[in-house]
Amino acid sequence: MAAVSSCRVNLPERFIEKGLILTEEAYIKFLEDGIREDLLAEFLETLLDNQVFLVTRDDYEDFFYPKIEANGAKDASEGPEESAPKRSITSKHHPAKDVSPDIKIIRDATGKSDSEGTFDDFLSLFKDRYKRLSKIFKEHAELRDFIPIKGAKDQELKSHVKVVGMVVDKSITRNGNVIVDLEDLSGQIRVLIMGSKDRLRERANYIVRDEVIGVEGVLGEDVIFANDFQFPDISLGTPRNCSEEDINVIFTSDTHVGSNEFAEKSFLRFIKWLRQDTGNQKQQELASKVKYLVIGGDIVDGIGIYPNQEKELKITDIYKQYEETARLLQFVPDWIEILILPGNHDATRGGNPQLPIPKSFAYDLYNMSNVHMLSNPSFYSLHDVKCLTYHGDSMFDFFSQIPGFTLDSPIEPMTEMLRKRHLAPNYGLGTQIIPEPTDFLCIDEAPDIFHTGHTHINGKGAYRGITLLNSGGWQSQTEFQRLRNINPDVAKVPIVNLKSHGVVVMNFGG
Ligand SMILES: [Fe+2]
Repeated sequence: MAAVSSCRVNLPERFIEKGLILTEEAYIKFLEDGIREDLLAEFLETLLDNQVFLVTRDDYEDFFYPKIEANGAKDASEGPEESAPKRSITSKHHPAKDVSPDIKIIRDATGKSDSEGTFDDFLSLFKDRYKRLSKIFKEHAELRDFIPIKGAKDQELKSHVKVVGMVVDKSITRNGNVIVDLEDLSGQIRVLIMGSKDRLRERANYIVRDEVIGVEGVLGEDVIFANDFQFPDISLGTPRNCSEEDINVIFTSDTHVGSNEFAEKSFLRFIKWLRQDTGNQKQQELASKVKYLVIGGDIVDGIGIYPNQEKELKITDIYKQYEETARLLQFVPDWIEILILPGNHDATRGGNPQLPIPKSFAYDLYNMSNVHMLSNPSFYSLHDVKCLTYHGDSMFDFFSQIPGFTLDSPIEPMTEMLRKRHLAPNYGLGTQIIPEPTDFLCIDEAPDIFHTGHTHINGKGAYRGITLLNSGGWQSQTEFQRLRNINPDVAKVPIVNLKSHGVVVMNFGG
């Protein structure tokens, strides 16, 4: 796991030095989340101040997942009904109010849909994907001198060749060899990855159809015997962009307004915190710096998304679901810019890229001056920090295709998307793809922050300097999820500081 490999300090020793004992479950949580060296000293200090010597998982969660309590109740999910926030905003200090918004849309499908769903459209899509991703290999140390497949096939037998192609097919032979059929704009060739090459064979588990990989090996009759292969990947040492302003961004998703299970009490508590009406001093300071709220899809629960969904709806009219969303979001201070992308539950086309939720469905949201309606995915910058938000429709494709990937670890498929430089490479699985002439799902440029949702599981991690966040949601377990053994994370909200890139996950209760 990427998070485990980020361990660069001897953690138990750091605790022992201070006379503290770290329990095993707290240690595991540290490893799962990735050790936050930037907050470690502060955590140790807090423990000593509070005279805690045996450090448990609860101590960890209290610090790293600060919880906003409901009217003094110990558990934030307890307590009386949460009242609506007051109309007037408290006169407390709001530094984010004085910062001008700086949002630049780098890549978004809004107004750029040309697809008629024809064969030629699919051909254009895959050609565009190949061109974009093969270009990345021009920067690779080992593969930048790759040649067209046709040219490679014309070489003498036993020549050393390098090619970059799209995976047309992949199969595994009885004796464990992997066969990959690769195609580029000039032709097709078979690649054999021998089962005896342990390290290479293990990495071949991660190859999926319709992605672009680079191969180097020895030429045989219409076959390359692979010595190595590469994904386009993220370059090591890619510099990270930071904002000059000390401001925070909230990355959330999957509000599912209209569902019986929408965690309204928690959501109201979240809004009250944004307005600095609740929370301790430290938590209010965090809120005072919030300049952006990104909601990455499944804004509403929708209608008819799965069989018998109507039994799980509190609001059965899609228009009213969006009206209710706008009613709630109007309580968010108006200096906070709200970026809204659609998800598979929203009232726009289901295929990726999804166009923004139309005005005809979300009239009240379009009328809010601080709301920006974007496509799914969207690549944008906030004060020069590059962010990629994707609802995450392809997550389940990865869970089904790559051995060992499981729903409770969304960071692993996110890392794969970055390595493959594509959000949903494998065509024909669960993710519906619209064949646009431009492949909007290619990750042409490395983001600083990569944010997804969809699985309703909270996760954070890092890959080659990129912060990865899967936001969790605002919907308690539905019958649909119960039958699939999905235990959602509810009302856990990642907050990123654009200057320091520090991440805090706040917990507003289930
Ligand atoms: Fe969702």
